[in-house]
Amino acid sequence: MVIRALVFDAYGTLYDVQSVRSLAIDLCGDKGEIITHLWRLKQLEYTWLRTLMRSYEDFWSVTRAALEFALSSVGIAPTSSLCDELMDGYLHLDLYAEAPQALESLRDHKLAILSNGSPRMLEALVRSAGIAERFTAVVSCDQVKRYKPEPACYALVEPALQISKQEVLFISSNGFDVAGAKRYGFQVAWIERTGDVPPPQDSQVGPAAFYRLIRGGAEQLGYQPDFRLKRLTDLAAVLSA
Ligand code: 2OP
Repeated sequence: MVIRALVFDAYGTLYDVQSVRSLAIDLCGDKGEIITHLWRLKQLEYTWLRTLMRSYEDFWSVTRAALEFALSSVGIAPTSSLCDELMDGYLHLDLYAEAPQALESLRDHKLAILSNGSPRMLEALVRSAGIAERFTAVVSCDQVKRYKPEPACYALVEPALQISKQEVLFISSNGFDVAGAKRYGFQVAWIERTGDVPPPQDSQVGPAAFYRLIRGGAEQLGYQPDFRLKRLTDLAAVLSA
């Protein structure tokens, strides 16, 4: 099937959500590591719950609530000043190291982002990373007041890019997003970032390993990706094959 556009997930795929770890460690000491992982786990959980509850709040609010949960759960008061500083980190997340080169190698293709991020958050991210001009469209699920993997979110891509869903290659490292995009009808590439990490020897694992175990593997939801890639720079080979 011909691919006429590549549509990227943002958080965890182009941008490293764990890049707030050093800020969290600076501000919260030894608990920074576990806060980073709890924050991301709870953030996504809240997107799913709010979609199911039909009680939408934008991704900034959801991310803040998840942060407050994470801090409280490890015994740190979620003061406004602490939350403000950590939230600011979310506007300046690092791109994955290979992302600039990958986007450069794909410059002759139509590229877009489809993300849960609010328009303001996404604009800040693409500007701070200097990659805004790479994308034909930066599409926020905020338009439909629901979160991925709700099909209405993926349906935003076709009108934004004026193409059919079969012509889209959707790229995500988030297993639930891979399943949702495949269920919707896109061609899908899974960036399997944790593929080389061996399974644990026993149950004594730290927060990073636990996060990888719960979010790193292929979801057992009955929808498999068309392509399993180690990194974004592998996409060029998919397109030339
Ligand atoms: C995103 O929508 C799923 O967080 C991920 O960017």
